[in-house]
Amino acid sequence: MKLTLKIWRQENANDKGKMVTYPIDGIEGDMSFLEMLDVLNEELINKGEDPVEFDHDCREGICGACSLQINGEPHGPDRLVTTCQLHMRSFNDGDTIVIEPFRAKAFPVVKDLIVDRGAFDRIQQAGGYVSVNTSGNTIDANSIPVNKHDADESFNAATCIGCGACVAACKNASAMLFTSAKVSQYALLPQGKIEATERVQNMVRQMDLEGFGNCSNTGACEIECPKGISLENIARMNREYMSATSKG
Ligand code: SF4
Ligand code: FES
Repeated sequence: MKLTLKIWRQENANDKGKMVTYPIDGIEGDMSFLEMLDVLNEELINKGEDPVEFDHDCREGICGACSLQINGEPHGPDRLVTTCQLHMRSFNDGDTIVIEPFRAKAFPVVKDLIVDRGAFDRIQQAGGYVSVNTSGNTIDANSIPVNKHDADESFNAATCIGCGACVAACKNASAMLFTSAKVSQYALLPQGKIEATERVQNMVRQMDLEGFGNCSNTGACEIECPKGISLENIARMNREYMSATSKG
């Protein structure tokens, strides 16, 4: 395939940035989107030019490192896949592909297509854990009965990989889907109930401090989420928050 890539280039957070056009040839349908960018970068390096910076790690859809707004959609046109799992067969010979970083005030551009998603780490640090007594009297987790439905729902919420596509998809750059998945993961389990009141308040407070917008129920986050995290988690987080704040 022969393609035209229009890629956002930005030297650092203070640089204004601009779109740069790169023609590319010899792209196979079986290549992943990131492999296609590898081909481009090899060409740029061979020409003595600066390669395009982009995030990646596992390249198998589990780490949440890859990102990219591809033709206006986080992780590109396919549903339930990350950019590293998107294949070039989803595009046609002669296509023009516009590649930008995830855009949100709380995700500043580091360089080119890399954004700083440290805000998610700080939300997680504000309450995305359970405190465990490690004095030697710790109860084995498997000895605590968990309702099957709750266990499944909790597991589904825990599949959030923290990629940030939900924020990039949202017109308000809201982080409600991410935060609610992390809240739900614990709220559904007996182990998580002990700190539930503080957890939801602390995580929501941190989410607001980071500058993410509010949820206005458009649902773009759920559609673009590569892990199919459900909007039901947002409803659950709202209930948890109302209950926590009414307790004072
Ligand atoms: S909720 Fe989905 S889109 Fe948002 S960070 Fe988690 S996996 Fe990514
Ligand atoms: S590189 Fe790990 S999810 Fe894409």
